[in-house]
Amino acid sequence: LFFKGFWLALTTTAAFSHLQFQKHCCFCFCGCKGKFVLVESIPVGVEFNSSTPHQSIYETWLSLISEAQRSLDIASFYWTLTNKDTQTQEPTASQGEKILQELAQLSRKISVRIAVSTPSETQPKDDIKLLADSGAEVRTVNMRELTSGVLHTKFWVIDKKHIYIGSANMDWRSLTQVKELGAVVYNCSCLASDIGKIFEAYWFLAQSKTVPSPWPSQYTTLYNKDTPMQLLLNGTDSRVYLSSSPPSLCADGRTSDLQAILSIIRDAQQFVYIAVMNYLPTMEFSSPKRYWAAIDTELRRVAYERTVRVRLLISCWNSSSPFMFPFLRSLASVQDSRSKLDIQVKIFLVPASPSQKEIPYARVNHNKYMVTDKVAYIGTSNWSGDYFVNTAGSALVVNQTSAQSTGPTVQEQLQSVFERDWDSSYSIQLNHNTNLKDVCEPQATQYSDL
Ligand SMILES: *[C@@H]1O[C@H](CO)[C@@H](O)[C@H](O)[C@H]1NC(C)=O
Ligand SMILES: *[C@@H]1O[C@H](CO)[C@@H](O)[C@H](O)[C@H]1NC(C)=O
Ligand SMILES: *[C@@H]1O[C@H](CO)[C@@H](O)[C@H](O)[C@H]1NC(C)=O
Ligand SMILES: *[C@@H]1O[C@H](CO)[C@@H](O)[C@H](O)[C@H]1NC(C)=O
Ligand SMILES: *[C@@H]1O[C@H](CO)[C@@H](O)[C@H](O)[C@H]1NC(C)=O
Ligand SMILES: *[C@@H]1O[C@H](CO)[C@@H](O)[C@H](O)[C@H]1NC(C)=O
Repeated sequence: LFFKGFWLALTTTAAFSHLQFQKHCCFCFCGCKGKFVLVESIPVGVEFNSSTPHQSIYETWLSLISEAQRSLDIASFYWTLTNKDTQTQEPTASQGEKILQELAQLSRKISVRIAVSTPSETQPKDDIKLLADSGAEVRTVNMRELTSGVLHTKFWVIDKKHIYIGSANMDWRSLTQVKELGAVVYNCSCLASDIGKIFEAYWFLAQSKTVPSPWPSQYTTLYNKDTPMQLLLNGTDSRVYLSSSPPSLCADGRTSDLQAILSIIRDAQQFVYIAVMNYLPTMEFSSPKRYWAAIDTELRRVAYERTVRVRLLISCWNSSSPFMFPFLRSLASVQDSRSKLDIQVKIFLVPASPSQKEIPYARVNHNKYMVTDKVAYIGTSNWSGDYFVNTAGSALVVNQTSAQSTGPTVQEQLQSVFERDWDSSYSIQLNHNTNLKDVCEPQATQYSDL
């Protein structure tokens, strides 16, 4: 009888929380009629045949700065918008320099707040100093002490109304020398207020010795993978939420970045296309070594159980982890037409002229997104364990599955970006014989005619 009563109590609670869940869902309707724009940085010298032209991240940042009336909040990893760091006179740094000037000017007029990962000894600090001297409030977040990670997030919130999120760092190379992808949503204060809560968490952590647990109620959200925000994007019914990592930074209600990724992979019916710079089923920076296969297992599972087509478009440069290729080859070997196993991996190489090769940490595809036959996921994290366990990142998930749409959906637009890159001559199929050295290092000779 005791057990029966206990069980009844449990099921009643479950039923009750379900009702609450339904009640909360009323608030999921957001009145905004937002505009969604996919934005990209295409490195100089990269040209596609089937061009899907998107607004550049540079133009986007300029227009957001000129749009700003009252406030601009920026979450950032590090700042090198001028090329002082490289000791070179790179003409393509002028776009970054222009952004820095505009931000300094804006800081004199309106509230500009910058949350940045605490710079290391060697990291440049000139830009943040200039902005602080111009009136911006700058706070450094010591994620190393708080969670043994870094603040890796890259997003902007403008006038608590428009948002930008994407792979680009506050780095001049991110505008002209590195391939990046991001998204802007204009005119949607519900979304801006939700990403604002993630920003406020960083802002708070900058002055805290510990991560609150639980987070106070002003950081909690109603919007997550189970109860996404319902709104109009370009007139199309959309379900949207923002995920965040690591889990210790997720206040009540917030879906962690890893849970977002896993649920999106599980939800796919036909395909999962992933474009990320780094992919490793390990904790990349941990010692002793730790295997970390949450995403890897899910990809193999959907390929096997539901014959979902999986494609990974990965990048490499000379500082890529030597463990990346063996694990990618392992994934790519889950390929057999008779048994309908279909995982493929390609490496996207950004060509570099001899002088471009001189630019450190450039000429690479830095995208961090995923698109399935159902949804679009635009993130800020590399895909290895560290980025989901101890490093701060965030992502925007857009689901327009059941909507009637006049124009292309966000999912369709992102799919065509992926297909453009995958089918281009910049992408090289990975197979048993490919190794890191052959693919990533002969870049200069291969493209020396550029
Ligand atoms: C945002 O909404 C305002 C007022 O409805 C409109 O004037 C403006 O053009 C919109 N901005 C964008 C970028 O769509
Ligand atoms: C997308 O929305 C549909 C309902 O419109 C839902 O069934 C599906 O689970 C959602 N997908 C994801 C990955 O959230
Ligand atoms: C590797 O990359 C670093 C930083 O981008 C650069 O300084 C170095 O010259 C590169 N080494 C080779 C062998 O290309
Ligand atoms: C992603 O990984 C690369 C290589 O490990 C690292 O240099 C970079 O800082 C990471 N994060 C960014 C900026 O996306
Ligand atoms: C939304 O509309 C803008 C133009 O107003 C366009 O640039 C953008 O591509 C559209 N986005 C989608 C997802 O259709
Ligand atoms: C564009 O098409 C030409 C001719 O088919 C091909 O040689 C070239 O590699 C293609 N470029 C890209 C970036 O795919």
